[in-house]
Amino acid sequence: MAEFVHAKWRKLTNFMLNLPFIFLAGVLTVLLLFWAFFGSTHIFLDSCKCYQSKPAFNLQFDPPVTTFYNYPSFGYTIDKPIKNWDQKRKTWLSLHPSFEQNSHDRVFIVTGSRSTPCKGPTGDHYLLRFYRNKVDYCRIHGYDIFYNNVLLDPSMPACWAKIATVRAAMVAHPEAEWIWWIDEDAIITDMEYKIPFHKYKDYNFVVHGWSKLVYEKKRWLGLNAGSFLIRNCEWSLDFLESWADMGPGSQNYEKWAQVLMDVFKYESNDQVALAYLLLKDHEESLEKNIFIEKGYYLEGYWVTIVDTLKNVSEKYLEIETTDRLLRRRHAEIVSESYGMLREALLKDAGNEVGTWRRPFVTHFAGCQPCNGKRNPLFTGKGCMDAMNKALNFADNQVLRNYGFVHRNLSDSSVVSPLPFDCPA
Ligand SMILES: *[C@@H]1O[C@H](CO)[C@@H](O)[C@H](O)[C@H]1NC(C)=O
Ligand SMILES: *[C@@H]1O[C@H](CO)[C@@H](O)[C@H](O)[C@H]1NC(C)=O
Repeated sequence: MAEFVHAKWRKLTNFMLNLPFIFLAGVLTVLLLFWAFFGSTHIFLDSCKCYQSKPAFNLQFDPPVTTFYNYPSFGYTIDKPIKNWDQKRKTWLSLHPSFEQNSHDRVFIVTGSRSTPCKGPTGDHYLLRFYRNKVDYCRIHGYDIFYNNVLLDPSMPACWAKIATVRAAMVAHPEAEWIWWIDEDAIITDMEYKIPFHKYKDYNFVVHGWSKLVYEKKRWLGLNAGSFLIRNCEWSLDFLESWADMGPGSQNYEKWAQVLMDVFKYESNDQVALAYLLLKDHEESLEKNIFIEKGYYLEGYWVTIVDTLKNVSEKYLEIETTDRLLRRRHAEIVSESYGMLREALLKDAGNEVGTWRRPFVTHFAGCQPCNGKRNPLFTGKGCMDAMNKALNFADNQVLRNYGFVHRNLSDSSVVSPLPFDCPA
């Protein structure tokens, strides 16, 4: 083979020494230069035809070069540690240049539910609507999503399952800088809101909560593990490993359960374990890696949110009556630009309790529509009414792009056409 290449090469060199070739080469160079000056403008316009601000990803290109995927020791599971992940990811990105650009805040959404049917069809109906809500958000913002409904690690069931799913998603998506885990029973209630990733440039993990409650009062309910952002980096792989080490699949489970009991006075679960990791990061790392977000509802408890939705809708309508641009009809694909317009008018809205800003995420913790193990504080009807209201509240933000609206947030089946220039 080597000889063959060599022979061919020699032939080519002989040919190149031919004088007519040199002349031809000169003509070609001139032609090329001509093309570079006049032709390229044409090409440039052609490639911009789709008017995308970011170049489209090349989904049909995977060079036949060795990457981490080729090593037999590489694995998707927590028990197969990956060394030098940051470097490996960087190499992969450099081999796939269409993904390299804008990869710094690329987010991949991961969610999931169990593999078996819900206890009743109503549960499955709500799971479908919860999922649709996330798909709507992804479509509007150009994000990708993975809905997993198998237990990747049978030794880590229930809420622990997300650790294995997030781990697998990280290595399956080296193009994503952030993984956003969101529980199946959490819905996005501000379709326009974009996560402010610029705030997190020095952090690797972001969860909603109150740092004082976690760090000082040692309250595991001072945060919620139902929605978190984790950077696709080496630190995060180690972090997931530590988190899993506290889980039921680990031989250290009992030991950790005792530690968690001592610190948080509560039996082990994924969230208590997470609270412990937050505490350790706070107390022991010189460079903090974890950010506890309270500036917006990266996760919000439905009980404090649902009753405010009606007023929030009215306040948003009020803004739109005074701003012609905001109520302008538009193609769904450019919705983000209207979100940016609105953002400027929400400066005084405040955040969290007492705010009239749309809550970003509303989490139906305790309602358990699928497995039916509802918190005894709530009734089935109470949960269902609240879920309908929040789902329709979110749906209204989507449906308006299709010309319709749920006038009554409690009525999921009925919509009316939106009149022109509504709500002027
Ligand atoms: C909604 O607004 C009305 C009128 O401003 C107010 O009386 C009411 O308390 C508000 N409801 C909630 C849940 O904030
Ligand atoms: C809204 O819909 C619910 C459920 O269909 C219904 O019970 C309620 O009366 C409706 N409210 C109004 C104001 O029409």
